Amino acid sequence: MLTVSGLETFYGPSQALFGVDLSLQQGQVLALMGRNGMGKTTTIRSIMRLTPPKRGTVHFSGQDLAGLQAFRVARLGLGLVPEGRRVFAPLSVEENLRATARDADDTAGGWSLKRVYALFPRLRERAGQAARTLSGGEQQMLAVGRALMTNPRLLILDEATEGLAPLIRAEIWSAIAALKAEGLSILVVDKHLKDLLPLADACVVLEKGRSVWAGSPQALQADAALQHRYLGV
Ligand SMILES: Nc1ncnc2c1ncn2[C@@H]1O[C@H](COP(=O)(O)OP(=O)(O)O)[C@@H](O)[C@H]1O
Ligand SMILES: [Mg+2]
Repeated sequence: MLTVSGLETFYGPSQALFGVDLSLQQGQVLALMGRNGMGKTTTIRSIMRLTPPKRGTVHFSGQDLAGLQAFRVARLGLGLVPEGRRVFAPLSVEENLRATARDADDTAGGWSLKRVYALFPRLRERAGQAARTLSGGEQQMLAVGRALMTNPRLLILDEATEGLAPLIRAEIWSAIAALKAEGLSILVVDKHLKDLLPLADACVVLEKGRSVWAGSPQALQADAALQHRYLGV
């Protein structure tokens, strides 16, 4: 469904990616891993064309994304939950969700307010509240809900559980597991390997802007030296 090949991306003159390859099969959860600063967010921004790559290719459902503007990439069905839970602080929860809604119709299997509230009941309780009054975990749920309201075929989560308390983190993971069970394809960046690995179907490890290892979560889990070397675990 997603094939990334030879990605090289720059911020001005400074090169951040030096050759990233990955592929994600339909219905899979792919874990994109690596220590801080290794290029995970840049890879995601390159895929979404928020920071267009200088070299390399990204194909989504067979389509080459080269030359597309970021909003067009999103419309093809890539839904991003960006690092740092960006919600519209002054808008209510419901307004945040409606703002990204596209063809929202739960009868067609698409995402609607009703379905997002069923996934995250806390958001229904807070529907009329300004997003800025939510806890960090609730804002993260809202960020996931906003991405789902675009009816993505591929959901991309960049550190969605970062800085959250264990209980609320568990709620987010169970929502991700429910989405996977429905067959949604998901690309996840997350530091909590204990939560991430049981859910992942495949893993890719980045080191200094390069993909250096790809394999199954079982193989990664079994290889302490690999985890130590590339993930600092
Ligand atoms: N906006 C930016 N401008 C310049 N350099 C950046 C910017 N964002 C990230 N970088 C650099 O790119 C590299 C990869 O960063 P990033 O993709 O954020 O890593 P990760 O998400 O794995 O922590 C790092 O060396 C980082 O300092
Ligand atoms: Mg990052």
